[in-house]
Amino acid sequence: MSGPTTPTVIDSPAWLEVKAHFKRLQATDLRNLFAADEDRGTTFALQAVDLFADYSKHLMDADALGALLKLAEVAELRGQIDAMFAGERINVTEDRSVLHVALRMPRDATLVVDGVNVVSDVHVVLDQMATFSTRVRNGDWKGATGKAIRTVINIGIGGSDLGPAMAYDALAAYRQEGLSCRFVSNVDGADLWGAVAGLDPAETLFVISSKTFTTVETLTNARSARTWLVDALGTDAVPHHFVAVSTNTDKVAQFGIDTANMFRFWDWVGGRYSYDSAIGLSLMIAVGPDHFRSMLEGFHAMDEHFRTAPFAHNLPVILALLGVWYGDFFGTQTHAVLPYSHELGKFAAYLQQLEMESNGKSIDRNGVGVTAQTGPVVWGTPGTNGQHAYYQLIHQGTVLIPSDFIGFARPNHPLDVHHNLLMANFLAQTEALAFGKTAEEVRNEGVPEHLVAHKTFAGNHPSTTIMAPQLTPHVLGQLVALYEHKVFTQGAIWNINSFDQWGVELGKVLATRINAELTSTDAPSNSGGDGRAAHDSSTTALINRYRSMR
Ligand code: F6P
Repeated sequence: MSGPTTPTVIDSPAWLEVKAHFKRLQATDLRNLFAADEDRGTTFALQAVDLFADYSKHLMDADALGALLKLAEVAELRGQIDAMFAGERINVTEDRSVLHVALRMPRDATLVVDGVNVVSDVHVVLDQMATFSTRVRNGDWKGATGKAIRTVINIGIGGSDLGPAMAYDALAAYRQEGLSCRFVSNVDGADLWGAVAGLDPAETLFVISSKTFTTVETLTNARSARTWLVDALGTDAVPHHFVAVSTNTDKVAQFGIDTANMFRFWDWVGGRYSYDSAIGLSLMIAVGPDHFRSMLEGFHAMDEHFRTAPFAHNLPVILALLGVWYGDFFGTQTHAVLPYSHELGKFAAYLQQLEMESNGKSIDRNGVGVTAQTGPVVWGTPGTNGQHAYYQLIHQGTVLIPSDFIGFARPNHPLDVHHNLLMANFLAQTEALAFGKTAEEVRNEGVPEHLVAHKTFAGNHPSTTIMAPQLTPHVLGQLVALYEHKVFTQGAIWNINSFDQWGVELGKVLATRINAELTSTDAPSNSGGDGRAAHDSSTTALINRYRSMR
C-alpha cells in the first residue's frame, strides 16, 4: 500500500503501544495464559443481550486488551457511533446518512433527518409489508387465475439476495408450511431455469428486489421471469405475479410493475445492510410479520448494546478489536466463521458481503492510502461438515486462522441426540485448537516415535465462542447486528468508509463492453475505436476463442 499518510489511529502512540504488546505476546502460549489465571475462562467473557461470548481463547491478556481499547478511543468511536445514530452523512463518498439502525427502531421512536422522521416512514412500509405478507400467507392474494401463491421467488443479487436467502434458511423452523421461497441471483440462466423448474406460474409470485433497479443481473433475470410467466398466462397476469422492492419508483414503473405493488426503502440503507428493510419481504412472507418484527427487535436490542455499553463490555467492539489485533499485528489474512447450526449454512456467505464489501478498502476517508491491513477474507461453513474438510489446515497447517464458533443451547428440532453430539464437537474443536496435544502427551499414549510429530497438535489457534439459547428470529437479529457493528468499529479504526463499494464498478463496465462484443456479428477485432487496443492480448484471444466456440 503506497501513497501519503494522514494522522490516524494507525499513526498514533496507541497503535505503537499495541505493537509493543504484540511483541511481548507473539510467542505466547494459551496453555500458559490459562495456567497463569485460573479465572481466565470467565474473565474474558461477556453477555450481550442473548449472546454469550467467550473470548478467553485468544492470544492476548488484559494489558493487551487495554491497549486495544485505546484504539477505539483514539478513533473517537463514541462520536462516530453517535454520528451514525443521529443520521449524519457519514458515508462521505456518496454523501449519505447510514441509517440501517433506523430500520429496527420501535414505532414510537423518533429520528429526524432532513426534516423527516425516518422511523415513521420505516413503519409505514413495515405495515404495508405485513398487510401484503398476510394476504399471501392466507391465500387472499390471488394469482391471475384465482389460485393462491405457493412459491415466492426473490430475484435480487448481493444485498438484495444474500440477507433474505440466509435468513430464510436460518429461520426454517418458523416458516409457514405449503409456502416456499426460492432465491435467484446469478445471471447464469441455470439459476432462474432451475428455480422455476416444476412450478406452476399461476401459483408463483416474483419479488424483484433491487435498491437501484438498474442491476443488470437482476433485471435480466426479472425480464426472463416475466417472459416465463407471460408465455403461460398472458401479459394481464403480470400485476398479480410481480411486486418490487426498491428505492427507484421510476425504474420500477418502467419495468412494468404497478408501483402500488412496490415496497420502498431509502438511499440511507446500504445494500448489504438492507435485509431488515423491505428487501426482507420474501422472508416476511415465509415467517410472518410477527416473527419478522421479533427479528427487528433483536437487531434493535444489539444496536442499543452497541450504542450504550462501555467499550470494554461491548461485544461488537471486542470482536472488532480482536480482528485488528490479528490482522494488523499477527498478519492473519483470513477469518473463519463456523456456525454449529445447519440453519446458518449461508451465514458466512452473507458476512462475506457485509465484511468484505464494507471493509475491503485501501483508501481512507481522506482519500489517501491506508497503511494498515484492512478487512480480512471471511469464510466458513457449518460444523461439523467443515471438520471433515478443511479443519486439518486450521489445526496443523502453517497459517493462523482466528475463528468465531457460533452455537445454540436448544435446537429447533426434536433430535436431541444429534444436538448434544453437534455441541460436543463445537466445544471440543475450540479446546483442541487452543490447547492442542504436546509431543510428550502423544508419546505417553504409546505412539511410535516416527509418528509423534504427525500426531502432535501445536494448539494456540485462537477462537471466540458465541453461544445463544436458541436460533430464534430475535437471536438472528442480534447476531447480524453484532457483525454489522463489528464492521463499523473496524472501519472507524482503519479510518475507511465502510459504506461505499467503488471496487465493484470497473468489472461492471468491462462486462457491459465485452457483452456487446460477444453478441456482435462483426468480425472480432482488437481496436477500441480510438487508436488504442480494446483489450489486452489475453482478453482479446479469450473473447475470440469464446466466439469461435459458440
Ligand atoms: O455491485 C455491488 C452492489 O451494488 C451491492 O452493493 C448491492 O448489494 C448489489 O450490487 C445489488 O444492488 P441492487 O440492490 O441495487 O440491485
